[in-house]
Parts: sequence; structure tokens; C-alpha cells
Amino acid sequence: MSTNEQDENNPLRSLLFSADLLSDSSTTETTNPRSAADSDSVNVATQGAPEAFKLWNHGASIVRVVPLSGIKSNNNNDNNNTHNVPQAAADGSPKYRFLRQQGLRPSRHLPDTLIIGVKKSGTRALLEFIRLHPDVRAAGCEVHFFDRHYQRGLRWYRHHMPYTIEGQITMEKTPSYFVTKDVPQRVYQMNASTKLLIVVRDPVTRAISDYTQAASKKSDMKRFEDLAFINGSFAVVDTTWGPVKIGVYSRYLEKWLKYFPLSQLLFISGERLIMDPAYEIGRVQDFLGLKRVVTEKHFYFNATKGFPCLFKSEARSTPHSLGKTKGRNHPHIEEAAIERLREFYRPFINKFYQMTGINFAWP
Ligand code: A3P
Repeated sequence: MSTNEQDENNPLRSLLFSADLLSDSSTTETTNPRSAADSDSVNVATQGAPEAFKLWNHGASIVRVVPLSGIKSNNNNDNNNTHNVPQAAADGSPKYRFLRQQGLRPSRHLPDTLIIGVKKSGTRALLEFIRLHPDVRAAGCEVHFFDRHYQRGLRWYRHHMPYTIEGQITMEKTPSYFVTKDVPQRVYQMNASTKLLIVVRDPVTRAISDYTQAASKKSDMKRFEDLAFINGSFAVVDTTWGPVKIGVYSRYLEKWLKYFPLSQLLFISGERLIMDPAYEIGRVQDFLGLKRVVTEKHFYFNATKGFPCLFKSEARSTPHSLGKTKGRNHPHIEEAAIERLREFYRPFINKFYQMTGINFAWP
């Protein structure tokens, strides 16, 4: 059954799914104007009725279907809303009124599942693909709670999560979590049963991807070869340079395994996520205890871009790729430099294979 079909059969899920398209933009660092004492559930009692509702006979009961687009604000003071809180997140939004009428209380929860990394391995693709599932709701952008905003507390974090109804998984992705020292312990303290998703990719290609992204923001960036090695030859690898250092996955994994059993971690092959996204997303759905709803029917391969794309997603109903910042062309790197980096990574890769029990077949 496709997401589409499932959504049609499940108007409540479908409705909430689109509701948070609006509320996800609240994941920028805004202050939620509701008082700290407020419940996180939506209070629908204070606002007037929305203009246009359509009646829909759903099984035995008549349900109201809220138009998914063009929902008008009831608040004439919107322009004065300096907190930039989206209307859908505000109390009394038509979508939440509807859910409340159905006896449901959409509320925000701390995440049950985190995509913790690894940067430039396909973390955005993983998030966009898995959030096609109607039982997965994800924060719209990287919240960076455990590495940058920890002092703000769990209540702040929860306010950056999307609304969910019972049975839906709350997910967040911040790839820097994987490599930040204090994060494993902090996640453990939040919830020791948090499920952790980790996309990994050949560390040499990952380093080049990381460099390509940095170079795209800085026009006078030195060559990759000049940054990855010390003293102008390819003899000594600069292991302090971020793009190289992050690729020593075993080193960071050791820290996570001090707090979480391997069974709570799922490793996703970044290479396979490109070649066979449905296969990898199938594994993710199994790991999360979800019905396999996201399948090959959701993807098509865009030969020009060289990557799988989506027929539709939470954000767009027409076929599209992940955007220009994902799947960039990499610069040419001297073969000798690549060979030397492969040699450098080999023992760490072998250790990583041993620790995970998976051979990712990196060259
Ligand atoms: P490149 O842009 O170097 O090719 P992240 O989202 O963690 O930043 O990872 C970015 C990488 O995701 C991209 O690196 C690309 O190789 C990979 N990727 C995986 N699936 C993709 C897809 N469907 N579209 C675009 N990029 C994808």
C-alpha cells in the first residue's frame, strides 16, 4: 500500500501529516510564547470556527475534513507576531481542533529515535525517505540540542519536536551528535532506550564530500590535497583536519557503545541508500517496528542527477530531488592522495566492521 493509499484510508494521519508541514518551520530557534506551565497538548477551546470545512463520511461517523492548503489565520495580529510561531502550531488551529473532535490529543514528545550521523553520508536522504512513513514525524531542521543547546533543557527540546498522535514516532536528525564527546551520555540520560540511526559511507568519499561542501561556501579554499596532508607531501595525513577525523568511525562508535547496546543502533549504508533506497528504508522500518509502507514505489532514479528522487514527500506533492546541496559534483583529487587516505583508513575500517558485524565493502 502506498503512502497515498494509506493516507486516504486514514484521514487522521493524513491530516496530521500535512498539519506539521507548517509547524515544522517552528524548529528554528524561536521562543514559544506559551507559558512554561502550559501543557504540551493543543488547547483548542479558545478560537472561532474555521471558515471552510467539508464533510466526509468516514466509516460509521461523519468527520470534518480541513482543506490542506489555504488555511487562513484567525489572528488579525499575525504581522505583530514577533515570535514567528506558525499558525498551525498555535492553539486552536483547525487541524488540531479536528483531531480533538476525534478524541485525539496531538502533543509534542521528546524523540524516540535520533539520526545521529554521520555528516555527508546521506543523513538528509535518510530523514526525507523515512518521514514518508505516516507513523514517523520529524523535526524539520537540525535542532542541535545535545551539542549546542543542551543548557536550554529538555522542555526547550520538546518544543522543537513536531506534534504527534499516539503510535507515531518522533524523530530528530543532527549529524554532529555522532562525533560530539558528551552527546552519548546526554542522550542516554534523556532516554536509555532511544533508537539510534547512523548512516555511514566510505570515509574517503565522505571526506571529499565534506570538503566540497566547505569549499562551496568559501571561494579561496585550499585544495583538498593541501588540507588532508601535512608538509606538502602525501606521506603524513592530517588527522586533526575535520573531514579526515570524522571518518575514523570506530573511535566515535566506541563512545556510543559505552552507553547503548549494539542492538539499539542501526547502521545504514550510505552507498546502498543511493543504489537501493527501498532496501535500506525497509531495514529502517523493520528496526523501528513499523509496517513496511515506504517501498520502491516512492522512488525514481534521476539519471541526470545520478541519485534517487521522490515522487512526493511531506514538503512537495510533485516529483523532486533532495536539492542542489545534496549530490554535488566533487572536485578531481589526485589518485596518490586517495590511495594514501585509503591506506590510512584501512585499520579503522576493519575495526569498524568488527564492531558493527557489517562489512560495508568500502574500497
Ligand atoms: P554529496 O553531495 O557529496 O554527493 P548529508 O545529507 O548527510 O549531508 O549527505 C549528503 C550526501 O548524501 C550527498 O553527498 C550524497 O552523496 C548523499 N545522498 C544519498 N542519497 C541521496 C539522494 N537521494 N540525493 C542526493 N544525495 C544523496
